[in-house]
Amino acid sequence: MKGQLGLRQSATPKTQVHHAATHALQSDGRSSVIISVFSTGSGIGKTVTAINLAASLANYGHSVCLVDLDLQFGDVVNYLRLQPNRTLFDACNDYKEDKKNFHIEDYLTPYTFETAGGNEVSFDVIAPPKTIYDAYTIEVAVVEKIIKRLKNFEFVICDLSAVFSALNIAVLDLSTVVNFMGVIDFMPSVKNFKLGYDTLIAFNYPESKIRLVENRSNSQKLISGSDVERVVGAKFYYNFPNDFPSASKSIREGKPLLAVAPDSALTRGIQSLAGMYSNRPQIEIEHVGAPSIFASVVKFVKDLLGIKSLAR
Ligand SMILES: Nc1ncnc2c1ncn2[C@@H]1O[C@H](COP(=O)(O)OP(=O)(O)OP(=O)(O)O)[C@@H](O)[C@H]1O
Ligand SMILES: [Mg+2]
Repeated sequence: MKGQLGLRQSATPKTQVHHAATHALQSDGRSSVIISVFSTGSGIGKTVTAINLAASLANYGHSVCLVDLDLQFGDVVNYLRLQPNRTLFDACNDYKEDKKNFHIEDYLTPYTFETAGGNEVSFDVIAPPKTIYDAYTIEVAVVEKIIKRLKNFEFVICDLSAVFSALNIAVLDLSTVVNFMGVIDFMPSVKNFKLGYDTLIAFNYPESKIRLVENRSNSQKLISGSDVERVVGAKFYYNFPNDFPSASKSIREGKPLLAVAPDSALTRGIQSLAGMYSNRPQIEIEHVGAPSIFASVVKFVKDLLGIKSLAR
């Protein structure tokens, strides 16, 4: 298996990282590295990240399937201008009907794009149900079976919704790595980010499985990344810069960042994170730090959360 997980910015010991990957390889005959992209808030950048992780890993030569598991309000199909013939809804129904003759390939929507450098890159997508009604009928246990059928892909990227639903928890359980994202711009988002992290820890996942990723990390805010780390009690594995022009151009044109903004810091950031997940040599990227620190805000958040000691 090529896709052992890499390490760079994390304080996580490498042995733990390998433990997480090995665990995924041994369970249920599954061989994919499953990366779920999750957050406790909407509009955090999960879908942009999931699409561009998939595109970057595919550009590195890996076989990749991107599964849109935001069943009611998924955006992958819109962001990539796909017209799927079959969706997860069809896959679940057909699986239940006749699992012996079920072929996961029949439910994949292929996607191909050209990088700015002229490489043709492809990955597959499992589209979400077409209606909210269809989404409502989907059973968690069947989705688990479908994900396990994707075992021939080196990487399976799961784009989730922003709730601790039964489906999301099942997918988090199956995941090798949880890319837990936050945009930490004001106090409720810090509170929800910490609540989400504490909940993931309470699930007894190894800490190496949970990768905290700060999005739009250099946008104007009243609390710095390092103060958030102290409040949460864990380090960010990675941070992406604020880059609305590139993100919105990608969505507007229906193509990954590698096609429309190859040199932007956001593109290089997501590429670099993908490289870490596939053990690539790292691209040198500019560190994006947050601007001002207001200790009083940090103190307020700590008081609000009743945190006495943040040392870890
Ligand atoms: N690093 C970034 N800099 C600037 N804008 C960004 C960045 N990442 C994402 N965005 C913008 O944020 C918006 C939300 O992104 P996205 O749809 O990926 O979020 P999401 O977490 O999947 O949301 P939801 O929970 O609704 O599914 C989009 O308009 C996107 O262009
Ligand atoms: Mg989304």
